[in-house]
Amino acid sequence: NVLHAIAGLLLLLLLSACTGAQSAFDTGGVEAERVLGMFWIMVVGAAVIWIFVIGLSCYVTRVSPRAVDDRIGIRLIIWGGCVFPTLVLAGLLFWGLGMMPELRRPADGPTIAVSGERFWWRVAYDVEGGPGVVRNLPPGGVPSANEIWLPVGQRSTILLGSPDVIHSFWAPSLAGKMDAIPGRVNRLVMEPTRTGVYNGVCAEFCGEAHAQMGFRVVVVSEQEYAAYVRAQAAPAAVTQGPGVDLFLRNGCAACHSVRGTTADGQIGPDLTHVASRRTIGAGLLPTTPENIAAFIRSTDHVKPGVEMPSFGMLPEAEVTAIAQWLGSLE
Ligand code: CUA
Repeated sequence: NVLHAIAGLLLLLLLSACTGAQSAFDTGGVEAERVLGMFWIMVVGAAVIWIFVIGLSCYVTRVSPRAVDDRIGIRLIIWGGCVFPTLVLAGLLFWGLGMMPELRRPADGPTIAVSGERFWWRVAYDVEGGPGVVRNLPPGGVPSANEIWLPVGQRSTILLGSPDVIHSFWAPSLAGKMDAIPGRVNRLVMEPTRTGVYNGVCAEFCGEAHAQMGFRVVVVSEQEYAAYVRAQAAPAAVTQGPGVDLFLRNGCAACHSVRGTTADGQIGPDLTHVASRRTIGAGLLPTTPENIAAFIRSTDHVKPGVEMPSFGMLPEAEVTAIAQWLGSLE
């Protein structure tokens, strides 16, 4: 029992270390608060039951079996084994059902489409809603990738889909997980309660780079959100120069779009405002021209399993010029 106590204390210490932008214990959204509330009630309930069962076990090992009255044993089975679990489980069921109308409350914020793709997140702001055919998500919207901005205090709708395998969209500080499933559109509502930058991950094993399939959620005021989406809708800031020519000549446009240039590939992330995003490689590296160059040069080293091929065969000066241009696209 001393060992149990020590293990319990260690677990508590571990849990207390779970703070930061990616923790279900450090909530920044209504949905995550509800999940955390349910978690604590179940932890306390489980602890009470555990102490009772362990206490009972200790008691019966210390007294002679004959000293325990048969009638007590039968009562324990009926009350402890049948009535008590039935009441507890029924209580939890009705409590959970009671939460559902609240969770279904209609969203009043923007609708954002997010597609989980091996191994990044396609994002489209202000889509019309209603499932569409373009890569399993509603057509249109303002394209972006791997970073999702949300207005604080509003219920935003995230429409989730996937063109390849099942992924799972999870920003632990904001809401529970929701799968992104090929062939259907799932709906997740998020109501952030405070501004800040939150980390998210793919929570369903989807292939080699599953662990590097992250994203950021940036929660800002309503005005900042509107300004951000307007800025993302605009064409690229720089559409001419050596970086642009090299980008087009080396075939980058087969997969990537940069609006304002002739690059209109749809396979990889839209790069029109890539430098406005905090990370490249889906939450992997901070966005700097140096990191962009490193990524282009050897994707397979930076992010093993990534679909984008390495361009290590290009002369260093060309990689640098492309990275400098992309690094200027805020
Ligand atoms: Cu996508 Cu794991």
